[in-house]
Amino acid sequence: MIADDELHELGRDSGVHGEVVLRRRGTVTELVVDGVFAMDDVDTSTERALATEALRRCPGADLRVLVGGLGLGWTAATVLADPRVAELDVAELQPALVGWATDGLLPGLPELPAERLRLHAGDVADTLAGSPSHWDAVLLDVDNGPAFLVHQSNAGLYADAGLTTALAALRPGGVLGIWSSDPAPELAERLATLPGTAAVEHLVLPVERDGRRFDYAIVVARAAQSPADGTE
Ligand SMILES: C[S@@+](CC[C@H](N)C(=O)[O-])C[C@H]1O[C@@H](n2cnc3c(N)ncnc32)[C@H](O)[C@@H]1O
Repeated sequence: MIADDELHELGRDSGVHGEVVLRRRGTVTELVVDGVFAMDDVDTSTERALATEALRRCPGADLRVLVGGLGLGWTAATVLADPRVAELDVAELQPALVGWATDGLLPGLPELPAERLRLHAGDVADTLAGSPSHWDAVLLDVDNGPAFLVHQSNAGLYADAGLTTALAALRPGGVLGIWSSDPAPELAERLATLPGTAAVEHLVLPVERDGRRFDYAIVVARAAQSPADGTE
């Protein structure tokens, strides 16, 4: 029997973006990035909802999806579970995490389907800047939210210029989804004012943990089909 709090380190690495630790506490897997607790897999419903909520707003098939932040692999695995997704690219800042995924250590993504999935070690901001009009869906879960950054260097992703770049990386009608550990109405309101946005939704997702309620959130923005397709 595994004790609830028995700690077992699966991997530890340090690089330019700080230290990353993958560990198991009893039956729970935890990820710590740059000294900040990034996530565990006690309840991954909202990481999975980031994929399902964005993809159900994407019409058609042969979808191309970009996920920013591999984490424990739950969002990526949920994207791959949708048979309409032809290609999934995942940009992950920590090269060690990409290596651990390849070794089968991530609970959300124990197997990597080589024909549909590409893992990249790098900053998702660079991927977005280098792929205009490319994606049907871009899913960002790289911080604990726009108000709780893991890396200060990610602030630009949520600034108007970064959001505009993310919207421009979408095909017409494509969907941008952003995960947050707190409701983010300011982000939703700002996204709605940006040229290139057709519609914005702010979804609040309650999760119970240890007898407490947490309100996580996902902001979903749909890119305009054409310049005439303004904010609804
Ligand atoms: C909370 S985890 C993502 C969880 C993931 N949604 C899941 O389902 O397991 C955040 C991840 O984003 C990565 N990250 C942080 N900043 C990044 C960036 N600018 N580009 C790419 N990945 C980044 C972190 O290293 C970490 O692996």
